[in-house]
Amino acid sequence: MSALPETMNAIEIAEPGGPEVLRPVVRPVPLPRDGEVLIRVAAAGVNRPDVLQRQGRYPLPPGVSDLPGLEVAGTIAAVGAGVSAWRVGDAVCALTPGGGYAQYCLTPAGQCLPVPSGLSMTEAASLPETFFTVWINVFDRGRLAGDETLLVQGGTSGIGVTAIQMARAFGHRVFATAGSDEKCRACERLGAERGINYRTEDFVAVVKELTDGKGVDVILDMVGGDYVPREIKCLATDGRLSLIAFLGGTKTTLDMGDILYRRLTVTGSTLRPRSVAYKTEVARALREKVWPLIEAGTIRPVINATFGLDAAGDAHRLMESSTHIGKIVLEIG
Ligand SMILES: NC(=O)c1ccc[n+]([C@@H]2O[C@H](COP(=O)([O-])OP(=O)(O)OC[C@H]3O[C@@H](n4cnc5c(N)ncnc54)[C@H](OP(=O)(O)O)[C@@H]3O)[C@@H](O)[C@H]2O)c1
Repeated sequence: MSALPETMNAIEIAEPGGPEVLRPVVRPVPLPRDGEVLIRVAAAGVNRPDVLQRQGRYPLPPGVSDLPGLEVAGTIAAVGAGVSAWRVGDAVCALTPGGGYAQYCLTPAGQCLPVPSGLSMTEAASLPETFFTVWINVFDRGRLAGDETLLVQGGTSGIGVTAIQMARAFGHRVFATAGSDEKCRACERLGAERGINYRTEDFVAVVKELTDGKGVDVILDMVGGDYVPREIKCLATDGRLSLIAFLGGTKTTLDMGDILYRRLTVTGSTLRPRSVAYKTEVARALREKVWPLIEAGTIRPVINATFGLDAAGDAHRLMESSTHIGKIVLEIG
């Protein structure tokens, strides 16, 4: 094992606040405990939950790094006791418990996946958070299968570009909402049959029209609030609504009759507090069913912009502007 440096550059959240509270800091390089690997980080993905954490609106699970950063790509720099799946020097991308905005990052070995062949470290760093989330909420909890249809709210978000491509790659008809015509066309280039501009169109009416009045089988939603009663209206009988965030608020008024009479399921989940064992299972499923599609070029990473580690604040400003289409990545090593 090559000698590790004692310290590393990282970005910390100095205090809850705006992008300016993301400050460069020097921290000790952490050492892997049993079952963990230490990754020398080449690139780290930026996700909306990082913004919530920076704002002080995302309570951290116990025992995780206080540094932001939920996904990285890089090379294994050290392995803890009991790790046999990875060796020093392996190129991996990983879902992390936190701490990705740094030159070195710890994560459980089971949360690593190989960098798909043909992808750069920057591209690989953009995968884990959204691929785990979409797999869990669309295919596991949402049970999208067979010839069923999917509506993705926020089609050009990091989550959205993954959901559209993954569902399309498995042969499903996909519809997606976005806040401009340009973003709608981007959704269609990624495989959505129809991008729906939610500022100028009623997604309930468009979905009904496109499905001959039947509605969609699964909806992946990050808006919540007043979207929920409308989503109930455009779900097909036996349809599933999978909630992953509440950009539009957590409260609404609902007529629950449809849920009963049309056997609808409303579900939701958050990824970060799930167990390592569960995330390891999801990583296995992704490696078997989705990584080959990435390596074949059927599903492509969509990188909107890259920033250096010290410009993490600018990366957050871009994310909060919501002008991006796809992922924002910090290039570190
Ligand atoms: N539950 C989980 O496990 C989990 C895991 C990861 C992420 N998340 C959540 O998923 C969401 C997306 O994350 P991300 O990293 O992909 O963020 P992101 O790239 O910043 O995407 C946020 C998107 O929300 C869209 N949006 C806002 N209001 C909308 C509305 N009324 N209708 C339709 N779209 C709307 C914005 O697009 P427009 O400009 O088109 O409005 C933007 O593309 C975040 O809220 C995040 O916290 C949840």
